[in-house]
Amino acid sequence: MTELTAHGFAYSDGDVDTNTSSNPSLNAMIEQRYSRRAALRSGAMAASAAVFGGAVLAGCDSAASGSDPFPNIISVGSSGTTKAGRVVTLTANVTDNGAVTSTWVQTQGPTVTLINPSSTTPSFIAPAVAGATTLRFEYRATDTAGQVTIENVDVTINAAELGFTSIAKNRNDVVTVPTGYSVSVLTRLGDPIASGVSAYKNDGTDTDFANRIGDHGDALYWYGLSAAGARDDNSSVRGLLVQNHENLNVQYLHPAGPTTPGGVRPEAEAIKEIEAHGVSVTEVVEGANRAWTYVQNSAFNRRITPSTPMVFNGPVRSAALLRTPYSTDGTAGRGTINNCANGHTMWGTNITCEENWAGYFRRSGDDAQRTARELVALRRYGVTSSSGNYGWSTVTPADSGNTLFRRWDARATVGGSATTDWRNEPNQFGWVVEIDPYDKTKAPRKRTALGRMGHEGAWFGNATPGRKLAVYLGDDSRGEYFYKFVSNATWTASDAQASDRLATGDKYLDAGTLYVARFNADGTGNWLPLVFGQVPNRPAAGADPEYVFADQADILTHARLAADAVGATRMDRPEWTATNPVTGEIYLTLTNNNATLRQITGTDAANPRHYSDPKGASNQFGNPNGHILRLRENGDDPASLTFAWDIYLFGADSVDANSDVNISGLTATNDFSSPDGLWFSRPSNPGGLVKPLLWIQTDDGAFTDRTNNQMLVAMPGVTGDGANVTITNRGNGGTTGTQTTRRGALATDATLKRFLVGPIGCEITGVDTTPDGRTLFVGIQHPGEDGTAAAPDSSWPATQATGAAPAGTRPRSAVVVITKNDGGVVGL
Ligand code: FEO
Ligand code: CA
Ligand code: CA
Ligand code: CA
Repeated sequence: MTELTAHGFAYSDGDVDTNTSSNPSLNAMIEQRYSRRAALRSGAMAASAAVFGGAVLAGCDSAASGSDPFPNIISVGSSGTTKAGRVVTLTANVTDNGAVTSTWVQTQGPTVTLINPSSTTPSFIAPAVAGATTLRFEYRATDTAGQVTIENVDVTINAAELGFTSIAKNRNDVVTVPTGYSVSVLTRLGDPIASGVSAYKNDGTDTDFANRIGDHGDALYWYGLSAAGARDDNSSVRGLLVQNHENLNVQYLHPAGPTTPGGVRPEAEAIKEIEAHGVSVTEVVEGANRAWTYVQNSAFNRRITPSTPMVFNGPVRSAALLRTPYSTDGTAGRGTINNCANGHTMWGTNITCEENWAGYFRRSGDDAQRTARELVALRRYGVTSSSGNYGWSTVTPADSGNTLFRRWDARATVGGSATTDWRNEPNQFGWVVEIDPYDKTKAPRKRTALGRMGHEGAWFGNATPGRKLAVYLGDDSRGEYFYKFVSNATWTASDAQASDRLATGDKYLDAGTLYVARFNADGTGNWLPLVFGQVPNRPAAGADPEYVFADQADILTHARLAADAVGATRMDRPEWTATNPVTGEIYLTLTNNNATLRQITGTDAANPRHYSDPKGASNQFGNPNGHILRLRENGDDPASLTFAWDIYLFGADSVDANSDVNISGLTATNDFSSPDGLWFSRPSNPGGLVKPLLWIQTDDGAFTDRTNNQMLVAMPGVTGDGANVTITNRGNGGTTGTQTTRRGALATDATLKRFLVGPIGCEITGVDTTPDGRTLFVGIQHPGEDGTAAAPDSSWPATQATGAAPAGTRPRSAVVVITKNDGGVVGL
């Protein structure tokens, strides 16, 4: 509660007449009391429900005391109604001849914290409630004669709703957000994050990316800092933003794009490209007027790149599969790459996930030096490139002993071995990596118990003391699987604040069981353990012979083969997972699939659609728009071997799609395609309580004739809130088939709205808020990805302020900050 010390203050919010003259008539005073001239303002709208009489008048009459014949005139405003997450401002008017002291006291309802308690207009964020709930505030003023006057105001809070008008799809070169919200740019590709590093020129000549924000910012997460610079999970004004840097818009990193003189990549270009990958840790702070900036010289700032020393933990540590010339005992490695989605732990660490790492290696041409088993595994993981994505292994370094380029050549050499060539270097990638964002001296740890795949993200289910922890893992490639890791250790809540965070990670993430999902047509599912001795041989497939697993390290390193062997369900590209903080249900984006891999005869209940979403004159067959699946563990037990599932939402082009395709009933205000990023609001604010907000980000190429990529906000129900439906699929050439599936409740304007549209050529990926929910961070990845150095097709974020930028301005991936102009919880 706040205490206002005022000296004859006479505040007016402008819509009333404040009479500060002396000797008011008694009638005038009473009239003023009834006028309730101060306002209770709620969100963007003035509360209109003025409740006169009763409580307020009684307060004045009953509490007035002393001998002053002209007691203070207090007006604390109309009682009113609002919704959870919105700003409520209490306004007190006190008119008197002399000094007064005054106090606000909450006397009823869930306790709230007043913001700016020393101001004359304290405010608070309406708390999360399941239904109408009344909060009462008493305002008490004492004048110089000791005269005390009291008034009360009641504020009724209703359950949260999406509190904005859905924005239109567009193809503008800016980030668009709803009316009532503001966007600012926080960190951009190339921004210097160490002292003495020059400002980014953005003309292709910049160097030193190990001290700059990397390219292709992807998943991000806020780690709070106290004023003293310690971990503070409640801080919403100072923190560390940990962001993945997945890949490159390589055309903009060099003056005229990448070069390959004589078939060899120049060392300086390769260094830039390598260092622009990885992870960044950047201190960010909120300043005056809610302006957010990053701190260039912060001692916390850190870059983790594909060259940063790493440690291997878990069952595969020391395995022969991990031995390289750099680590002949298979315990260490260098770097992380293609870091896509993320995770965070209850103990304050960050998780980054290695997704499309395979293509960075040159490998083809060494089949004669590989065993049949190795070749099965290399093909299954796509380690087949004849050059590597950027040709880094072609560099002839000035320091001939430098193996940081040679390591990207994974060809087994004639007469060589795992410790003389880099044949095992691909085995060092495809893992989940844990980072302590608060301690840059600690090497990241690769958690091999969570398996090796094209890891999209690693998101924990809700932690319950005494129960095991579950981590949900998408493997993002067409037809890949959905996995779950279950810890051996049961959760001890005090571990959340353990001083050695990575040691806590050792406890929960180095020992456990990896499972893969099988989805049954009846809406049930099974978690199939990938445990040596329980996994059968992987049958021969195509040119590949049967694969016989050697041990648990083999199974974890080749989790895809083990999942094949146990009969997991092939999915339409598993991307992010998100955990509903209230229900514990797990949501999974299945971004899309194409007709080449998943033909009309290959649908199933969990991957049910096969159709064309026309794009201009072109057909796009398969499941071009994707869907979002959800599941609930039986007994809400993280270690359950069975679950229930349905399909929460189907992406669709609401214009082109018929009812067999637009199964969720999308409209122009909420249609979308290719869901990827997925995140529930934090339960530390009303956005993540009672009926939490789900943020859906798109990485789409099928719907870009209608709109740039976008982010929506949803208020989902629960698994099983829809119905079984049977759809007719239509394939190329007129083939048809039927498929029964389980759809969730239809989308409505109250449950799904478009919140953000990004600039040209971008993907929206990476989302978090401060714990109070009032500041939203969103990653805008690869704007202008289809342009060239000579002709960029986006100039964002330079365009953000005015919609335009000087011709030729190169685009940059960046993080934007979005705030609600009235200071409320974003989205509500
Ligand atoms: Fe990097 Fe699956 O998105
Ligand atoms: Ca279309
Ligand atoms: Ca992604
Ligand atoms: Ca993606």
